Amino acid sequence: MAIIEFPKDMKWGAATAAYQIEGAAFEGGRGLSIWDTFSHTPGNVVNGDNGDVACDSYHRYEEDIELMKELGIDTYRFSVSWPRIFPEGTGEVNQEGVQYYHNFIDSLLSNGIEPMCTLYHWDLPQALQDKGGWENRETVEAFADYAAFMFKEFSGKIKNWLTINEPWCVSFLSNFIGVHAPGYQDLQLATTISHHLMLAHGKAVSRFRESGVEGGIGYAPNTEWNEPFSDKQEDIDASNRATGWFIEWFFDPIFKGSYPEFMLEWFKQKGVTLKIEEGDMETINQKIDFLGINYYTGSVARYKKDHELFDVEKVDIGYEKTDIGWNIYPEGFYKVLCKIKDQYGDVPIYITENGACYNDGVEDGRVKDTRRIQYLKQHLTSLQRSIESGVNIKGYLTWSLLDNFEWAEGYDKRFGLIHIDFHTLKRTKKDSYYWYKQTVNNGWFDMK
Ligand code: BGC
Repeated sequence: MAIIEFPKDMKWGAATAAYQIEGAAFEGGRGLSIWDTFSHTPGNVVNGDNGDVACDSYHRYEEDIELMKELGIDTYRFSVSWPRIFPEGTGEVNQEGVQYYHNFIDSLLSNGIEPMCTLYHWDLPQALQDKGGWENRETVEAFADYAAFMFKEFSGKIKNWLTINEPWCVSFLSNFIGVHAPGYQDLQLATTISHHLMLAHGKAVSRFRESGVEGGIGYAPNTEWNEPFSDKQEDIDASNRATGWFIEWFFDPIFKGSYPEFMLEWFKQKGVTLKIEEGDMETINQKIDFLGINYYTGSVARYKKDHELFDVEKVDIGYEKTDIGWNIYPEGFYKVLCKIKDQYGDVPIYITENGACYNDGVEDGRVKDTRRIQYLKQHLTSLQRSIESGVNIKGYLTWSLLDNFEWAEGYDKRFGLIHIDFHTLKRTKKDSYYWYKQTVNNGWFDMK
């Protein structure tokens, strides 16, 4: 036996996002988002998949909530589709969309499950993209207005709010690497957007405080760990830049009120500038109530001149990988959490995403996803180590409750505890579902 035990008051949960599960893309008065446009453009998503139907959770949420209840989780993290609330991004409210979320949240609450709401998980209203999207500071204002509407409307029902999910993905993955909507490849654009996202977060926090609504607010950056290939200074610096792109770049503004010098220097060398207006940094640098941390993978990195953005080469040293090709690196999870505590202090943390892609199918009514169970055990062990080391962990929410629309990878890549047959939409509990249920119920598991 090797028992890994968690604090009794730690929250357990699972996470999803609107575009990945809801479907009903053209129903209920919903406006279009950039993901509708992107996924309907040939060549962007594997197999030409899109989120038109996804898991159809818009119609089947009662069934999903039953599954959550049986799983025994206390918290469910979901996101609101902005264009379901404001089809044009601003202006007229779509009451049908508002009512949908009321029904859904009421049902969660009556089943004893605490909602944790992400305001932005990537489905920007297309109408705002048509006016320049996140590059345009008007989008920042539109987001703050949308957020303020939500705080007031769902006051008393939703206590935990997250502003932006994974600002790195929204900026760099979507506007520099270009594999997510809207699919641009422009470093200046992506960097500008990264600042605007921080600002949108800060403005939403201000509106939350002004609203006087009860509860807490944070955001959910994605983290990665990069181990230096050797202890040569150039490798250490290279791996720091690779990690800094995820951590310091998106944490320093919020916790320290400035962008990290070592990263600014680097961007400057690439001819990229940051346009910061008066008051921006004060708006961003506000106290948040908790941090959401998403962690999946880590790498080994070394210096290589003129290689990719930061003169960094990721070296494959033979780590095992999940079915999406990401290294399994639980040690990095522990290190990320310790780094956050060391650099940003004793901030309460919810793990808002952690999980693995394994594509095991249904055989005789069962999904034997033992590799997912192993991944979860390893990462939960790292989490427990971080708790022992004094990191202030409040909860762990696994990604994901359901197999779902995995963005540019379409339906081919599966992260769920529950298998979805995307033809019949039948839900099948995987072995990992039963394992997680037991772990949530016990508050411990046996590593062996
Ligand atoms: C995102 C999820 C996504 C998951 C797996 C995160 O980057 O927030 O929406 O499905 O990782 O790729």
